[in-house]
Amino acid sequence: MADARKILFTGAAGGIGTMIRPLLAKLYPGLVLSDRVEPKDLLPTETFVAADLTKPDEVAAAVKGVDSVIHLGGFSVEGPWDTILQSNIIGCYNMFEAARAAGVKRLIFASSNHAIGFYPRKRRIGPNVTVRPDSRYGVSKAFGEALGALYSDKHGMAVTCLRIGNVGPRPLDVRRLSIWISPEDIVQLIRIGLEHPDIRFEILYGASDNATSWWDNSRATELGYRPTGKSEDHRAHAEAEQAKIGPDPVGDLFQGGTFCSAEFTNDVKRAGP
Ligand SMILES: NC(=O)c1ccc[n+]([C@@H]2O[C@H](COP(=O)([O-])OP(=O)(O)OC[C@H]3O[C@@H](n4cnc5c(N)ncnc54)[C@H](O)[C@@H]3O)[C@@H](O)[C@H]2O)c1
Repeated sequence: MADARKILFTGAAGGIGTMIRPLLAKLYPGLVLSDRVEPKDLLPTETFVAADLTKPDEVAAAVKGVDSVIHLGGFSVEGPWDTILQSNIIGCYNMFEAARAAGVKRLIFASSNHAIGFYPRKRRIGPNVTVRPDSRYGVSKAFGEALGALYSDKHGMAVTCLRIGNVGPRPLDVRRLSIWISPEDIVQLIRIGLEHPDIRFEILYGASDNATSWWDNSRATELGYRPTGKSEDHRAHAEAEQAKIGPDPVGDLFQGGTFCSAEFTNDVKRAGP
């Protein structure tokens, strides 16, 4: 098992961080947390180092002496260009570059389904399709994946990009029945990224065992991923929530949902592959 004192977890104060910290603490007591703001209720086994991803010196100080990075820090939805540019483009570059300089061997990057959001829901895709981002946010995640490939090929860093669907205790609507991932299952994928000996550069889908999945996650299966969450167990709740939401003539066609319809000015027949 990886030495937890040498694993840095960015974005630890965020939504996913809050959900998975107790699970990671059991696997990796001694984990080093990082964020711009200190997470609440630090466990006795956790330590915290503040770092703003937009500040290269702070990022370099946070990764000093670290072997592996779980990089979840960043702006997590669509936003103005400058916000995305600072936290997700410059911030992500700062993290990869500081990690390379510090000799980091493994990095797990929180990518997103929004890097491929303009694929139609009718189409099943694997990890090797051309990116089709649905937002500036999605573009920043495609950029992070590209950085991952660069640092893997050029510097030998073992990089795992998780194209996360939606993490939570249960899927929130019908779209998310196809892309949901439980906190336990995302921890399983993070563990593969931290420990599997065959990792060089991987894009894995961050999804549980969902009957209506749009994604071929067979590479994750090859690497030992055995998701335990099943979105069908929550179908009644998801359908009840969906009934409260009106139809979205653009978003309902594409995997990225409302991220596709926001700011949309195209003819829907000309969108997506
Ligand atoms: N929540 C999901 O289901 C989901 C789905 C796909 C991808 N993701 C990605 O996973 C990661 C975590 O998501 P989340 O839902 O916990 O998001 P979140 O917004 O709750 O947390 C993100 C954290 O990053 C920190 N952060 C933002 N900008 C920063 C900066 N410049 N410097 C340092 N820290 C900064 C924030 O303080 C925050 O604590 C994000 O990268 C997000 O894009 C999440």
